[in-house]
Amino acid sequence: MSTAEILSLIRCAEREAAELMLHARSILAETKTGKRDVVTEYDRRVQELLMRRLKEALPEAAFFCEENMQRDELAAETLFIIDPIDGTMNFVHGFHHSCISVAYMSRGTVLAGAVYNPYLDEMFTAERGGGAFLNGKAIHVTDTPLADSLICCGTSPYSPERADQSFDLMKKAFLAGLDLRREGAAALDLCTVAAGRAGAYFELQVSLWDFAAGVLIAEEAGAVCSTLDGSPLPYDGSRPTILAGSRQVVSALLRVFGE
Ligand code: IPD
Ligand code: CA
Ligand code: CA
Repeated sequence: MSTAEILSLIRCAEREAAELMLHARSILAETKTGKRDVVTEYDRRVQELLMRRLKEALPEAAFFCEENMQRDELAAETLFIIDPIDGTMNFVHGFHHSCISVAYMSRGTVLAGAVYNPYLDEMFTAERGGGAFLNGKAIHVTDTPLADSLICCGTSPYSPERADQSFDLMKKAFLAGLDLRREGAAALDLCTVAAGRAGAYFELQVSLWDFAAGVLIAEEAGAVCSTLDGSPLPYDGSRPTILAGSRQVVSALLRVFGE
């Protein structure tokens, strides 16, 4: 199957699974590692449906998924990295800003990704080397300077011990930029940057399923993506810091963060 066909398969599976989110009723949150780390039956059902559809078409596929702990070999020939619901806390609270994120990785390189926000019917997609798209239309990062840019950020809610460091950076970004946005879904933050709606996004801790699809989409839209110290993002399943944005906003932010 070509990468384009795999991307189309991912898009169809995400649209089908999104119906589960849109028709969800009585959403009960179960805690995982703490009160900010929650899962619902819908996270599991969305993931199961995605895995079933992808396996039907590609029986050899391996998976690296957030729920149910399916973590196959990351260097597999055909691997899907799945965040079934990114923004689960929003989902639980009826704050309609969550998405489904699926990346296709082959031998350690992400080749395609799709992030779908069912509430706005926004499908963000990219194939490596082929540009980034929102509902089929090309998207690009903004050329707005930091002083006039919105900056998305995350609070790394599963590591509250980093709150001081997080909020110090947020204060710096707020003062140097126009304003902050903390919307609660990392994959959508990356797509927000890709669509030129914000100049950058940063957070002190993310997981591979949060960023695998979104980083490809952002990079294909012209963003530079790295850890907060400017190193390449790791694709080994560790949980790095992240900074993504237009080249000029990222370099301005790195200066401001270093002061
Ligand atoms: C979380 C969201 C949140 C971000 C966290 C992520 P989840 O993902 O993307 O915005 O701050 O770092 O873990 O748990 O809702 O899939
Ligand atoms: Ca997530
Ligand atoms: Ca999730």
